Amino acid sequence: MCGIVGIVGDRPVAERLVDALKRLEYRGYDSAGVATIRDGKLERRRAEGKLFNLETKLHAEPLAGDIGIAHTRWATHGAPTETNAHPHFTDGVAVVHNGIIENFSEIKDELIAAGASFSTQTDTEVVAQLLARYRRDGMEPRQAMQTMLQRVTGAYALAVLFHDLPDTIMAARSGPPLAVGYGKGEMFLGSDAIALAPFTNEITYLIDGDWAILDRKGVAIFDHDGNRVERPKQVSVAAAYMVDKGNHRHFMEKEIYQQPEVISHALGHYVDLIENRINTNALAIDFASVQSLALSACGTAYLAGLVGKYWFERYARLPVEADVASEFRYRDIPLSKNAAALFISQSGETADTLASLRYCKDEGLKIGAVVNVRESTIARESDAVFPIMAGPEIGVASTKAFTCQLSVLAALAIGAGRARGTISQLEENRLVRHLAEMPRIMSKVLNTIQPKMESLARELSKCSDVLYLGRGTSFPLAMEGALKLKEISYIHAEGYAAGELKHGPIALIDENMPVIVIAPHDRFFEKTVSNMQEVAARGGRIIFITDEKGAAASKLETMSTIVLPNVDEIIAPMIFSLPIQLLAYHTAVFMGTDVDQPRNLAKSVTVE
Ligand code: M6R
Repeated sequence: MCGIVGIVGDRPVAERLVDALKRLEYRGYDSAGVATIRDGKLERRRAEGKLFNLETKLHAEPLAGDIGIAHTRWATHGAPTETNAHPHFTDGVAVVHNGIIENFSEIKDELIAAGASFSTQTDTEVVAQLLARYRRDGMEPRQAMQTMLQRVTGAYALAVLFHDLPDTIMAARSGPPLAVGYGKGEMFLGSDAIALAPFTNEITYLIDGDWAILDRKGVAIFDHDGNRVERPKQVSVAAAYMVDKGNHRHFMEKEIYQQPEVISHALGHYVDLIENRINTNALAIDFASVQSLALSACGTAYLAGLVGKYWFERYARLPVEADVASEFRYRDIPLSKNAAALFISQSGETADTLASLRYCKDEGLKIGAVVNVRESTIARESDAVFPIMAGPEIGVASTKAFTCQLSVLAALAIGAGRARGTISQLEENRLVRHLAEMPRIMSKVLNTIQPKMESLARELSKCSDVLYLGRGTSFPLAMEGALKLKEISYIHAEGYAAGELKHGPIALIDENMPVIVIAPHDRFFEKTVSNMQEVAARGGRIIFITDEKGAAASKLETMSTIVLPNVDEIIAPMIFSLPIQLLAYHTAVFMGTDVDQPRNLAKSVTVE
């Protein structure tokens, strides 16, 4: 999950390549590099760390050339050092790569036995070495490229320069996405359309197995066997999504506060606010004829799916299997032909989720995708697309995508209940009215709880471990709270079903352990309060996130109680997401971490 970009330009390209990399930095940010061709020679600049370091280097040592490729890295093979940063050079060949060459070790041994010497620890270098070897053996660049592609296995999006082809970039895709962009007398290549948005909105997506030759006049695309193929050109809407932080310190903060607005957009798509019904034309899956639902996703998207499982089972009486995609894809699940499969992904590019989708497709299941990026691979490969309409999410920690995913899943579960006759029209009307209230309640909550969350975050930033507890839909929310805290503040946190406390985690509780209890006054409230008693009896410090009824009903002493408005169960997960997001955000700010680009992570995980 690196970002790659290329330009065959009519003027110097280095600055524009770095500009495009900035829009791809969400894909990885541990090192970066640019290569160009000038007077028949390849030149490059690379730097460890954030793009800023590469910019500083380019400022000191500018790079000329009207053609170039560039890369922002999320390390898989080899430490994030300048040496391992792309582009990799071997004898007049430059390569940038997103993905993993799975048979690199075998190829490397073979090349070393034949006299090659490697200068990096990366899997990517074998691509440059193979191409250089084929050229030395007398192959033309095009033949060398095709032969190399038949030799490597794994996942890749590649861009290649040959020093003696100063007007050509070669590219290939097997797995990670790659978009070709059309300019006037220039051609572009990028990991996504947003990277290319300032240059062009005319895009062709390569499909798996494609490789391409770009020059200033256009692109020729070939399939794996070298046959010329045509792929559709489309107008990308990515330009509309160019974003900045506005008045916020971080993208994450901006995205938290955008939630009422983006959820209104999402609801506008799924809900008829005059009739208080779900828009059946937005459903696109015949839930009445489906006997079960297989649901799969990663990280925060998976936790949204777990909340969705409760809703589909409750409102549509539809059995749901929910799995993290990295397990789902290898579990040999016996899937019924009458099942539908639902995949949830903000980016629409997550490798494990995509592989699970393809597995279900091969099994003949109807595929639905709940995605944010509508031009993504997961969206393109699905039978039915359910857009979450969150707009671009730049912060690595998912916030608005999570609550938009929840809102869409809630609407789908109600719609499925309606289609299956498991909820009455009156119940549908009631639930939809609550959904419609959500943006207003969210705005109110965001406007009131911030100071309290900030002061609580100051306390949390002194802790080394935090436990989150919840029951029902608050259980996945507890896991989401823990995930959010650990990924941006680096504080160890766990989310548990409150009823599981006594089966192990209770051993951790002492006066140093904050326990965040998420407990709206719902069907489970009394039981959760009993679990809180167990924590209190052992000296644990309770942070109680509840509603007005819950606060009035609980007599327990807490370290802090956050009181939210009373809301219906169907919208509680979205409303209760707000304090856990703000708590993680402010804790990370106190800790001084890189909130939008936390260490070791990337926004889009396009490798296994
Ligand atoms: O793009 P996706 O929704 O498929 O990404 C899935 C996870 O990688 C993502 O939710 C990740 O867990 C976030 N960093 C969590 O904040």
